[in-house]
Amino acid sequence: MTPWLKLTTLAALAGMAGLAHAQAKPPLKVGLMLPYTGTYASLGNMIENGFKLYVQEQGGKLAGREIQYFKVDDESEPSKGTDNVNKLIKRDQVDVLVGTVHSGVALAMAKAARENNTLLIIPNAGADAITGPMCAANIVRSSFSNWQPGYAMGIVAGQRGIKRAMTITWNYAAGAETVKGFTEGLEKGGGKVVKDLTLPFPNVEFQALLTEIAAQKPDAVYAFFAGGGAVKFVKDYAAAGLNKTIPLYGPGFLTDGTLEAQGSSAQGLLTTLHYADNLDTPRNNAFRKSFALTYKANADVYAVQGYDAAQLLAAGLAAAKGDLDKRDVITAAMRKTVVDSPRGKFSISPAGNPVQDMYLREAKGQNNEFKAVAVKALADPARGCKM
Ligand code: BEZ
Repeated sequence: MTPWLKLTTLAALAGMAGLAHAQAKPPLKVGLMLPYTGTYASLGNMIENGFKLYVQEQGGKLAGREIQYFKVDDESEPSKGTDNVNKLIKRDQVDVLVGTVHSGVALAMAKAARENNTLLIIPNAGADAITGPMCAANIVRSSFSNWQPGYAMGIVAGQRGIKRAMTITWNYAAGAETVKGFTEGLEKGGGKVVKDLTLPFPNVEFQALLTEIAAQKPDAVYAFFAGGGAVKFVKDYAAAGLNKTIPLYGPGFLTDGTLEAQGSSAQGLLTTLHYADNLDTPRNNAFRKSFALTYKANADVYAVQGYDAAQLLAAGLAAAKGDLDKRDVITAAMRKTVVDSPRGKFSISPAGNPVQDMYLREAKGQNNEFKAVAVKALADPARGCKM
């Protein structure tokens, strides 16, 4: 090779290396803010596992970018919500926030995400306000609004001839909003809620309230509890003998991820949710197999929502070719995508909430089994959202 040719070859090689260097983007920083302790701990773990499973299935990268995780245990404690989310936004400088389970904590996250214009994907918390008056382009949910499964169960209860119902739940946004949805659905069918009972989150001293239910003898009880609290409530309801005389209904959280611990007390319970364990579709079967192989555990709705949070992020990033500066492209793509979820395909409303089928399920053995579509393609009314 002549000296001249050598020089030009070296220059070309150096140019290519420079180009490669310019194109190699740093890892994408994902901040997981979830409950890893307390009554919702299992929900947080399932969401994280679901999210990581999807990323793993993509070879550990989304839109060509490695993922670097940062984690905060939010303890389902709203009073610590702002401090906790700022650990991820300000200290760790994450690119995207994923969280959380508890509606009260999620409201603090959404406020911070709006103020800092940080991308936020909510993999559970149903707080209606987040896709209502607080809706924002940089916030989307892979889960549900609290209104959705409540409304669907109200419709089902009305169809089953329920005229007088009582409700029981924790006294915070999720409880109040799911009861509102249930009441709205039930009233459409000609029934009404005669009494709402509440106790503070995450209290599980149900005895006095169960005594009141026994005295009032409603046609049915609608209950929202989840995680450890749902296990205790369903067992106490059966131990009080109420399951023999007064049907217990709920949003699917009452029996999701909890059936093993609830044992015989949960068998036969009817709930409504956007997922059923035994949906016999290639997508759900492949997801459940992959989840079981990876984690040696059965998937539940929380795992699905975590998995779909990663799918939403992937859709946004793919449209922007991994470039986070193209914020408008990312947020528009996350609203345009149709998510091929284990629950069935769903779209995202302009307010950022899934538009999805609500299933009626029955607890049988270790599964919440599909019985019927309770409400097809149910969209949250997004009351108060202006975008
Ligand atoms: C919530 O706080 O929004 C919530 C928590 C657990 C299950 C479902 C909803």
